[in-house]
Amino acid sequence: MHQLNRAIGVFDSGLGGLTIVKAIKELLPKESVLYYGDTAHLPYGDKSPEVVRSYIRRIARFLASEGVKAIVVACNTASAVLDEEFYSVCQNIPVVEVITPAVQEALRYSARRNIGVIGTKTTIQSHIYLKKILEKAPNALVVEKATPLLVPLIEEGWQNQPFCSHVIEAYLSDTGFRHIDTLILGCTHYPVIQKEIESYFAQNFEFQVKVVNSSYPAAYYLANLLEEQHLLNSDSASLPDRFYVSDLNTNFLHIASSFLDVHFQLEKLSLETAGWIEPLK
Ligand code: DGL
Repeated sequence: MHQLNRAIGVFDSGLGGLTIVKAIKELLPKESVLYYGDTAHLPYGDKSPEVVRSYIRRIARFLASEGVKAIVVACNTASAVLDEEFYSVCQNIPVVEVITPAVQEALRYSARRNIGVIGTKTTIQSHIYLKKILEKAPNALVVEKATPLLVPLIEEGWQNQPFCSHVIEAYLSDTGFRHIDTLILGCTHYPVIQKEIESYFAQNFEFQVKVVNSSYPAAYYLANLLEEQHLLNSDSASLPDRFYVSDLNTNFLHIASSFLDVHFQLEKLSLETAGWIEPLK
């Protein structure tokens, strides 16, 4: 197969990574995507780093075996726990994680360097956002908060229910957030409720709070990387996108289409039953 025609591998614990796929497709329409959502193991956000690492190694091995030209870790929880073993499974395939682009974006907007971060428990407990922000802006004040109820609400398709706004309010009314000028959505599911989060700030804060998510920053990061490595598919016809999940039910089909705003085929592919996958430790 022509080198530049190969797909970009994108994965997440579930469907949240589709928010990144949407940005990739908008920015790089000639590229095709091979998506893997590990719905059988969702949520990653309340599992230990060791367990998450064992799941994502298998996915990386699958994507590498499919010959992808880049791997996008479209999950903050997975991005927070990447280790050398993960990179060695990816061999020489370039890897894009979603935390660095989100931090760069937040620092572009945050004039007062007072930044809030929300994400899953595992992401927040890793303090990866705090560390990465302080590396670039040592005087920044960073307030991190785990917001574990948001992913199940979104995966259930309940983002428009009134109680979703109550959950958002319960989390964001934390006094630690009182002086932030920027909030990072440290989970790839959260762009689905970005409008609700913005309207919470508009209604309750006297000054503007910029809400930042990693979708477009990560897609730009990927575009630059592919360009630098001469991997952009500029000439060849693009291949069809493929979307796999480790577990499938009719709800996923419905929700997945609403994440991407288009209807598409979602297929079940269990990596556990494939012979070449390392068994879970
Ligand atoms: N979308 C994933 C993230 O960005 C989290 C969802 C989960 O807990 O599995 O962290």
